[in-house]
Amino acid sequence: MAPKIVTLPGDGIGPEILAPTVDIIERLIGDVTFEEHLFGGASIDAHGTALTDEVEAACKGADAVLLAAVGGPKWDTTDPNAPRPEQGLLGIRKALGLYANLRPVRPLPALYDASALKREIIDGTDLLVVRELTGGIYFGEKTRTATDASDLCHYTTAEVERIARTAFEAARGRSNRVTSVDKANVLETSRQWRQVVHEVHAADYSDVELEDVLVDNCAMQLIVRPSSFDVIVTENLFGDILSDEAAMLTGSIGMLPSASLGAAGDPGLFEPVHGSAPDIAGQGIANPLAMFLSAAMLLRHGLGREAEAASLESAVDAALAEGLRTRDLGGTAGTAEATQAVLSHL
Ligand code: NAD
Ligand code: IPM
Ligand code: MN
Repeated sequence: MAPKIVTLPGDGIGPEILAPTVDIIERLIGDVTFEEHLFGGASIDAHGTALTDEVEAACKGADAVLLAAVGGPKWDTTDPNAPRPEQGLLGIRKALGLYANLRPVRPLPALYDASALKREIIDGTDLLVVRELTGGIYFGEKTRTATDASDLCHYTTAEVERIARTAFEAARGRSNRVTSVDKANVLETSRQWRQVVHEVHAADYSDVELEDVLVDNCAMQLIVRPSSFDVIVTENLFGDILSDEAAMLTGSIGMLPSASLGAAGDPGLFEPVHGSAPDIAGQGIANPLAMFLSAAMLLRHGLGREAEAASLESAVDAALAEGLRTRDLGGTAGTAEATQAVLSHL
């Protein structure tokens, strides 16, 4: 049977970058069914909630989920009781059990000059951020009174253990090094994190090189010595922040894809790391490459189509090598032009 991909265009530039991605996947694998649903702010406008039961069920029944981005000023509010687009994203991650978020950072030599960093600093960088995605402060109890607000950061040892395993397994297929990032000098959850990571390492992965780096120092080291990292594993909030920082090694946040994976056999969710970019929405100028590269991750991790994934990644590389530059990369190409450039190399 043809694989089924649920697509969630979401808000802002989301629909603009998802539509060409669907065309590219169709071109690559032909026999595939797409089912599009409202999600995020668009779903709030239609149904009063960012994630309906129907959409959650559709995602659970899919072979993979392809998401663009959610959010925007229209739905920004400080009212704790108002629905938010981001709740849809957190809700679907939790509902699908997507605890492992893989964010590869692989700057292309053709784009070194698009980065704010010096070429010689970036050169040789090829790292993978493994971000824990369904625990930590994102999902702990939240309270708010007239005078107080609180977000609880909570992890079970089982949650830390499984993401540590994901990181060590990934490292074995790469350069065999893991940097575990925490704030163990201050946070109890970080002391637990460090202890569990080392227990898993000693028990099953002592062949992998392991270093601990405090998160504030890591933020600096990413700019000082990015090429020395292989796999960076960290908790939910630290991973969110460090991956946007690491994105700038590639020249733009518009270049960074991600895969969010749960239990083997369950559907994964694939989405660019960037958001809905409300400041440029509706202008046809968004960089679609992070979205295309997320589709490549879907083909690889979601559908097991390695050859097609690799050919899409090669087409993106070739288009950039040939000079394709969207505005975020210092050029003038729009979304349609970028799509044509990639298609011409497929
Ligand atoms: P953002 O990533 O949307 O934008 C940050 C900056 O990067 C903006 O200047 C934007 O124009 C630019 N940018 C981002 N993607 C781009 C692309 N593909 N091409 C060219 N430029 C691009 O982050 P933000 O402005 O902090 O957040 C905007 C909204 O997106 C918020 O509502 C936020 O909650 C949401 N958000 C959603 C996701 C997601 O759906 N996964 C991720 C991050 C932020
Ligand atoms: C991301 C985003 C989300 C996150 C937001 C929109 C909830 O920033 O996917 O990186 O913080 O996880
Ligand atoms: Mn983020």
